[in-house]
Amino acid sequence: MTEQSTVTQADARPVKALPDAQIVTEVRHYTDRLFSFRVSRPASLRFRSGEFVMIGLMGDNGKPLLRAYSIASPSWDDELEFYSIKVPDGPLTSKLQHIQPGDQIILRPKPVGTLVHDALLPGKRLYFFSTGTGFAPFASLLRDPETYEAYDEVIVTHTCRDVAELEYGRTLIDNLRADEMMQELLGDGLDKLRYYPTTTREESPKMGRITTLIESAELFADLGVPALDPATDRAMVCGSLEFNKDIKALLEAHGLREGANSDPAEFVVEKAFVG
Ligand SMILES: Cc1cc2nc3c(=O)[nH]c(=O)nc-3n(C[C@H](O)[C@H](O)[C@H](O)COP(=O)(O)OP(=O)(O)OC[C@H]3O[C@@H](n4cnc5c(N)ncnc54)[C@H](O)[C@@H]3O)c2cc1C
Ligand SMILES: NC(=O)c1ccc[n+]([C@@H]2O[C@H](COP(=O)([O-])OP(=O)(O)OC[C@H]3O[C@@H](n4cnc5c(N)ncnc54)[C@H](OP(=O)(O)O)[C@@H]3O)[C@@H](O)[C@H]2O)c1
Repeated sequence: MTEQSTVTQADARPVKALPDAQIVTEVRHYTDRLFSFRVSRPASLRFRSGEFVMIGLMGDNGKPLLRAYSIASPSWDDELEFYSIKVPDGPLTSKLQHIQPGDQIILRPKPVGTLVHDALLPGKRLYFFSTGTGFAPFASLLRDPETYEAYDEVIVTHTCRDVAELEYGRTLIDNLRADEMMQELLGDGLDKLRYYPTTTREESPKMGRITTLIESAELFADLGVPALDPATDRAMVCGSLEFNKDIKALLEAHGLREGANSDPAEFVVEKAFVG
């Protein structure tokens, strides 16, 4: 069950002390390891859906303690959303997990990243492959109309250990499909957006690592789509280093090449965390 707390801008305590301070407006806890929160957006901040920024809190030594975070909200949103792990003894998240609406966080307004439409050549079908909090950049891209304007079909896979760890993504997909503004973009039957959640350590309707499901071609059979093809398919990947390495090898085996902002190609990769 999600626990939620919110604050309106009017309720927020006055900003002072922190450099690049933003106000927390909403916090939701999903599990003892996962939460999301929303903060005010600097008026001057422009970013491309899928990019990340440095955010954090003031450390005990009086210096900012910052970490990379994907912006989970789309570029058109008035606020910024983040989806976060809680590492029990993590320098930042052991504190960040206790933020409340009205609190301040530090946000350095310099967005960067490779999980952007500009880094891919035009294609017909776009895959988002994610594990754990690697879903965050796709939470942004999935809510960006450009994603559906640029592709005939958008397939998002999310693999977690347990069912509860899928809740943030599942709720986001449900809300997108129910959003009247999105109906036209998602097409008749809302079938332009395909959601493929899997778990590896708890029973669920679809079990298994997505890498295994690609190797066995079960993913393509389940969705009724052809195997990966560099002529039509594009992919964005976000998970642990090992996950990224394994997916990259599979994509390359199917003939897709890794792209970058300066050299667009058929897929792009970004790590969801280091270590
Ligand atoms: C480009 C980039 C984007 C990122 N985006 C996000 C994001 O959107 N949401 C998010 O929660 N984190 C994200 N991270 C990770 C984030 O920067 C921090 O590592 C995380 O907030 C933990 O900070 P910490 O100081 O508590 O612990 P750290 O000292 O940073 O990490 C301690 C250990 O915890 C584990 N860990 C760290 N982050 C994660 C994670 N996300 N999932 C699972 N295990 C983890 C690793 O084993 C790591 O060695 C991103 C990292 C990079 C490089
Ligand atoms: N999730 C938890 O409940 C939990 C609890 C305590 C501590 N931790 C620690 O937190 C860190 C991150 O855990 P996490 O669960 O967020 O991320 P994770 O270990 O990267 O696992 C997330 C999902 O990705 C899958 N996966 C991992 N590596 C893969 C690969 N190379 N190819 C394909 N799929 C892959 C996992 O499947 P598999 O299950 O098959 O690995 C799991 O379903 C780890 O160091 C972990 O020990 C996690």
